[in-house]
Amino acid sequence: MLAFVNTPHGPTPIELRDIPEPSPAHDEALVDVHAFSLNRGELSSFARNKDGWVPGQDIAGVVLRQAASGKGPAAGARVVALVDDSGWAERVAVPSHRMAVLPDGVCFAEASTLPVAGLTALRTLRHGGALVGRRVLITGAAGGVGTLAVQIAARSGAQVTAVIGRPDRAAGLKELGATEVVGGISAAQGRFALILESAGGESLARAIQLVEPKGTIVVYGNSSTEPTTLSFADFRGAPNARIQTFSYFTSEAEERFGPDLALLVSLIADGSLKPQIGVERSWQDLLQVGDRLRGRGIPGKAVFRTDRP
Ligand SMILES: NC(=O)c1ccc[n+]([C@@H]2O[C@H](COP(=O)([O-])OP(=O)(O)OC[C@H]3O[C@@H](n4cnc5c(N)ncnc54)[C@H](OP(=O)(O)O)[C@@H]3O)[C@@H](O)[C@H]2O)c1
Repeated sequence: MLAFVNTPHGPTPIELRDIPEPSPAHDEALVDVHAFSLNRGELSSFARNKDGWVPGQDIAGVVLRQAASGKGPAAGARVVALVDDSGWAERVAVPSHRMAVLPDGVCFAEASTLPVAGLTALRTLRHGGALVGRRVLITGAAGGVGTLAVQIAARSGAQVTAVIGRPDRAAGLKELGATEVVGGISAAQGRFALILESAGGESLARAIQLVEPKGTIVVYGNSSTEPTTLSFADFRGAPNARIQTFSYFTSEAEERFGPDLALLVSLIADGSLKPQIGVERSWQDLLQVGDRLRGRGIPGKAVFRTDRP
């Protein structure tokens, strides 16, 4: 079958190549991949991994063979799934508890935006507890995680301040539920019960000045790659505030992946979550689109169809 394979010493960091079919373990289904999405973090994963490794965490497709354990969706089910890797392929082995069945009307492209970005949006927001009437600030609001987090926070009753990097990124964020959209975190006013921080550097330093006493800053990314200097004195206006780090694979119990993916697809099905797909292309265009994502050139998510010859 065809798959993207890591080629750290080749002319391109990955290439589409013929590789052996997956061999699912006892509790893994075999899934035919129709669409997958790309995450900023995956762009930096090539250099960390060996030649021949197959990237790809976010997939949507059809179950070809149910897990031999009898658990999880049956053959023929349309599913979304989170895998550790190997998803940028025609077929992939998926643990039975890492999938959710797609309701009618939820397409593969939309569903493929959910695993990493949707779970991150949902679970970082949970660190804020009950959000009704609380002020939530979201950095990187026009990005893959950000556009989903804005919607889930607004649906939870929060007053959402969306932080964007440049004016054209404001498009559509109020329609998604943002109360206000600000250009750069330095333009945000007042204090916030919860801050989702993924830019790092100066943005994280400013977030400390904006958090409420006993409020929470969830640090889940460092898109700027800049370090932050902080000291205890920075928390003078926010005593007992908390900085919470976050990693989507380990943030909650392993068996929660299926139910949380099912929750996210149900929000799409009932119309309260609209994945923002900035680019949808054939997987042949992955490298070119990846460069655009790296350069902040794509609003929302980049999605790929595994077009077959
Ligand atoms: N810890 C975890 O488990 C976890 C999970 C998912 C993602 N992440 C991380 O969270 C971050 C957001 O992920 P994503 O998939 O939403 O990424 P994305 O789609 O590329 O969005 C990132 C957003 O951050 C903004 N940004 C602000 N400063 C930036 C800078 N200096 N360089 C690049 N972007 C900057 C961009 O804003 P503009 O569009 O306004 O330019 C962009 O919309 C990434 O750093 C990612 O690695 C972590």
